Amino acid sequence: MAIERIIDAGMQEDDADEQIVEITLRPQSFDEYIGQERLKKNLKLAIAAAKKREEPMDHVLLYGPPGLGKTTMASVIAHEMGTGLRVTSGPAIERAGDLASILTNLKDGDILFIDEIHRLSRAVEEVLYSAMEDFKLDIVIGKGPAARSIRLDLPRFTVIGATTRTGSLAAPLRDRFGHVYRLEFYTPGEIAQIIIRAAGILESKIDKASAELLSSRARLTPRIANRLLKRVRDYADVNGDGIIDTVMTTSALSMMEVDELGLDPADRNMLTSIVETYGDNPVGLTTIAALTGDEATTIEDYYEPYLMQIGFIERTPRGRRVTLKAKNHLNK
Ligand code: ADE
Repeated sequence: MAIERIIDAGMQEDDADEQIVEITLRPQSFDEYIGQERLKKNLKLAIAAAKKREEPMDHVLLYGPPGLGKTTMASVIAHEMGTGLRVTSGPAIERAGDLASILTNLKDGDILFIDEIHRLSRAVEEVLYSAMEDFKLDIVIGKGPAARSIRLDLPRFTVIGATTRTGSLAAPLRDRFGHVYRLEFYTPGEIAQIIIRAAGILESKIDKASAELLSSRARLTPRIANRLLKRVRDYADVNGDGIIDTVMTTSALSMMEVDELGLDPADRNMLTSIVETYGDNPVGLTTIAALTGDEATTIEDYYEPYLMQIGFIERTPRGRRVTLKAKNHLNK
C-alpha cells in the first residue's frame, strides 16, 4: 500500500524536511521532555549513579510502538551524560565489518544508538553482544587454514537499542541490556502540552481548546501530534491569518480525513474490511495483511498498538477480532 498516511507514526528517515523540523522540536533534556515519567525517573537515577562512579551507563533497551520518543530519549540521555552520540540502525549495519568500524571509532563513554535493533543480522548480533559484554572485539583475519583471530580492545561505550518488538531479539542480546524499558502511550493532557510547546518553538499561535482538539486526534503519539500541528499550521497560514483556533483546526482535520479518535481512511478501511469479510470471527495477521495489501509487520507495528490501546481490536488465541466498540464507531 502506498497511501501516504498523515497519522503514520513510522515515517522518519525518508522525509528529510520532516526530520529537520522534528529535530528542532525535540526536547534536549529531561526538563524539556514531557511524559514517560516512570522511565525518566529510572533513567535519572541510572545516569546519576554512572556519573558518580565515572563509568559509562549500563546498556539500555527501549521498546514500544513507533513515534513515542525512543530516539529522542537516546539523545536526551547523551545530553544528560555529557557524552557523544552515534546514531545507526539495524538494517544499516549489514556486515560484522560495518559494526567493527563503528565500534572502533567510538570514544570512551560514547553512546551508540541502534534503532530497529531487532533487524540486525544474526552474525552482527553475535559480534555486538560480545562487544557489549567485555568491550572486546574478536575479528578473524585471513581465510581458510591461514585465518587467525585477534582480539581488539574497545572504548567503554553504552548501547541504547530501540525496537518495536522485544520478542524478535535473540535472548543473548536481550540479556546484555542492564535496563529494559517500555515506552507507553502518552496521556491526552501530555500530548496537548507537547503541542503547545511545539507551537511555541514554531512561533505559531494556538489556543488551549485547539491544542486539546488536536491532541484527541493524535493517537496518544508525539510524532503524530507534531505532524498534525504542522499541517494545521499550514492550513491556518493559507486560509486565515495563521492563528490556530478551533474553526481552523476542525476544518484542517476534516480535510485530512482524520476522525475524532485519530483514525484515518486506512485504519477505517482495515477495520471495515475485517468486519465485512469475517464478521465476529477472529482473523490471522497474514489474512489482515492480504486484505489491506500491507506487510504483516506494518499492521502489527503501526496500526495495531493504538487500535488495541483504544479497545478497537483484541487479540485472541485464534487471531484478531474487531470489537463492538469499533463497530459502533464505524456504524457497523
Ligand atoms: N516532542 C516530541 N516528543 C516530546 C516530548 N516527549 N516532550 C516534549 N516535546 C516533545
